[in-house]
Amino acid sequence: MKENKIVYVAMSADIIHPGHLNILSKASEYGDVIVGLLSDKAISSYKRLPYMNYEYREKVVSSIKYVNKTVRQDSLSYKSNLEKIRPDFVIHGDDWKHGVQKKIRQEVIETLKPWKGELIEIEYTKGINSTILNKKLKEVGTTPELRLKTLKRLINAKDIVRVIESHSGLTGLIIENTHVIQNNKKIEFDAMWSSSLTDSTSRGKPDIEAVDLTNRLHTLNDIIEVTTKPIIYDGDTGGKIEHFPFTVKTLERLGVSAIIIEDKIGLKKNSLFGNDVKQQQDSIENFCQKIRVGKNAKISDDFMIIARIESFILDKSLDDALERAFAYIDSGADGIMIHSRNKNGEDIRSFCKKFREKNYTAPIILVPTSYNQIKEEEFIQWGANVVIYANHLLRASYPIMIKVAKSILKNNRSKEVDEVCLPIREILELIPGTK
Ligand code: SPV
Ligand code: MG
Repeated sequence: MKENKIVYVAMSADIIHPGHLNILSKASEYGDVIVGLLSDKAISSYKRLPYMNYEYREKVVSSIKYVNKTVRQDSLSYKSNLEKIRPDFVIHGDDWKHGVQKKIRQEVIETLKPWKGELIEIEYTKGINSTILNKKLKEVGTTPELRLKTLKRLINAKDIVRVIESHSGLTGLIIENTHVIQNNKKIEFDAMWSSSLTDSTSRGKPDIEAVDLTNRLHTLNDIIEVTTKPIIYDGDTGGKIEHFPFTVKTLERLGVSAIIIEDKIGLKKNSLFGNDVKQQQDSIENFCQKIRVGKNAKISDDFMIIARIESFILDKSLDDALERAFAYIDSGADGIMIHSRNKNGEDIRSFCKKFREKNYTAPIILVPTSYNQIKEEEFIQWGANVVIYANHLLRASYPIMIKVAKSILKNNRSKEVDEVCLPIREILELIPGTK
């Protein structure tokens, strides 16, 4: 080992494999190894959140005999850590010359120049890498506990957590597997919303709490069986206060991460009707009591009970919404969902601004069904933490099913609908294990 030389190696180190050990052992031949361990925030800025949180990963990496020290790297860019540490060498596998990390590599080379630091690239260990292991782990699935904890980790790590509605195993699979690559980053949905509207509608039933918990659990089980991403449960009004603890405990046991309950009483109607139907808001006092009862029932610190405010839905004032928000948080709510059916989003923007003046940390959850022209970047500016696309997969599937049904009726055959239908070959291969 060279005396007094410093070697910097950045890694996520989620699942340590021989490829990592090879790099670290080579690195240790050049000097003292400092590992720049990517934080959850850095990792989730370009791919999925790691299985292990930062503290766990740090424990593992720090115990590797080739590692002298571990420091946090809070972005994909090495720049600020390199400028602080001024290492003699940076070591990386030679697999980053193309693709996602090409720009980062160039920046490392430029950053090292002032103190004549050197980038050393080591032959990449073939046949084993995190992508292969991740795929295998996904096939194994997850545990209720791991899934449950993930939502809080995502909220802490990401600028905004992106959630979409799931009402079946199939929609769960779509959410699990669909991604796009944009600016070299993998963009995907972080979590699923078990919507009362879409779960009811897909059963041909109205969204009035007529589909009871037992039935909702059937859908949840179907989704849970084939996915690993966290789930936020739409708990409607939360039901009778005496029943609420059982709902909370059941969801926790299944590995659901959060329940959102809305501050309404009586026969629940869908919020998007607003005052076109008879809907009544609960008193602050009652609803706070419901929150407290739920909080007492839960076991895990990571399970979240989120209070949903219906003031704007019922044409009440910003002051009413804010008064409720602070009271619900004081009663233990782990976050606030603020809903509206106004199209311009102004009421929601004002709410976020005023709420954040007094409370910096409680997660704000938005459901931009009506104000759908506003992009996620803007919600981040407002101080929101979670965005839920609450009904879109169901709404997407219905019109095309009607179209296909009508075409078959008109043509007395199905040839005309073939081009909008999934080819037979593909449907047979869609679900693993079908063959
Ligand atoms: C749901 O998806 O069931 C919701 C959101 O509660 S909304 O339909 O907008 O009320
Ligand atoms: Mg609902």
